[in-house]
Amino acid sequence: MSTRTELLATGSEVADEVRHFYDRYPYPPPVDNLEKYQERWHDPQRKRADFHLFWPDRVFREDQSILVAGCGTSQAAKHALRWPAAQVIGIDSSATSVRYTEELKKKHNLKNLEVQQCAIERISDLGMSFDQIVCTGVLHHLADPDAALTALRRVLKPDGAMHLMVYAPYGRAGVYMIQEFCRRIGIHPSDGEIRDLMRGLGALPAGHPLQSLLTQAPELQDELTLADALLHPKDRAYSVPQLLELIEGAALRFGRWIRQAPYSAQCGVMSRIPQAARIMRLPLEEQYAVAELFRGTMIRHSAVVYRNDCASPSQPIDFAGDGWLDYVPIRMPDTICIEDGLEPGTAAVLINRTHTYRDLFLAVGQIEKRFFDAIDGQHKIGDIVERALSSSCRSAHLDLARSFFERLWWHDLVVFETAARATA
Ligand SMILES: C[S@@+](CC[C@H](N)C(=O)[O-])C[C@H]1O[C@@H](n2cnc3c(N)ncnc32)[C@H](O)[C@@H]1O
Repeated sequence: MSTRTELLATGSEVADEVRHFYDRYPYPPPVDNLEKYQERWHDPQRKRADFHLFWPDRVFREDQSILVAGCGTSQAAKHALRWPAAQVIGIDSSATSVRYTEELKKKHNLKNLEVQQCAIERISDLGMSFDQIVCTGVLHHLADPDAALTALRRVLKPDGAMHLMVYAPYGRAGVYMIQEFCRRIGIHPSDGEIRDLMRGLGALPAGHPLQSLLTQAPELQDELTLADALLHPKDRAYSVPQLLELIEGAALRFGRWIRQAPYSAQCGVMSRIPQAARIMRLPLEEQYAVAELFRGTMIRHSAVVYRNDCASPSQPIDFAGDGWLDYVPIRMPDTICIEDGLEPGTAAVLINRTHTYRDLFLAVGQIEKRFFDAIDGQHKIGDIVERALSSSCRSAHLDLARSFFERLWWHDLVVFETAARATA
């Protein structure tokens, strides 16, 4: 095993500057226990939905090897709590972040967690490979994000999956304006400067692009979060095409968005604009780029990606043939079903509560509601349709079922397990 100094060496001054920044202003703001988090992840359906979001075509298992790259103060400990049978490695270049993670490990007795002070760029030196790599909020702070992603790709198993999150440019325009404001007047990260900056921002004129972000993201009232957003020594954002280029450049392949409805012309307000049909004729990558421009306020992109030499199609969701009848739908755990006070003809409105855009909901009719109620995470769509409809009207409603389950999926209300298996 290499020494601590070797594991940090990237030969970049930016890396040293970023490391010192996080030693002083660790992110996310440290927490001293994860009990609420643990409770949330007790739910076995939440785990299954999370697993099949990454691997629809694999049989559920809990003993993956997981790397949390740039784990900050708590993310690796959270994964170790969420997946007790998994082996979790958290790495971070900041000693402060590693220390906070070690404290959580001790507090929650996380025997399945190992923490290393190590730069992403040196990850191969650990001599390990992983089923899942989580790297959120990190690549956009690095001197060479392409090299770092390539380093992560080297330690991803052939059928492994990565969860990447990077900043998005248009929704963060206000952040970049205030970063430039700070640079021009020489504001540097220090406790006094951050406090003064918070006071100054309180007087931002109405309509300033940062203002809507401050109201949308109350966590920015926290000093460490504010320092991370506005005084970071290195921060670049990726539009959809730039992110796809970053992924391809590292010999990876885009799989799906963690939440895909905001990017889809089949969902929400975009499905009702005069240009909707034209957008839907574009290749999917183009549709996503267009959606980012239309929405205008996306502040980050979170994606699932795979190695580009992965043997099987990584997201084999397809409603063109008959294969979809064998998919087992699993409800997304934050889905709610509203049945009161609706317009005539609407039996329910389905909402994924993790969506921040208010236009992302799915209104459903009587038959569709019957399908939805029959989703138990065990039965295939074919069985659900059979149970919900009498044999005389089944074939007449097959197209309705196809379109409904496809829309449920696009709206992030279900994921599918596509691996063929016997129905319970
Ligand atoms: C914004 S925080 C994100 C933390 C965590 N991933 C999360 O989403 O909560 C970025 C983290 O990446 C770490 N980091 C920055 N550059 C790194 C590098 N080259 N190698 C490893 N960690 C790095 C920082 O120390 C910091 O803890």
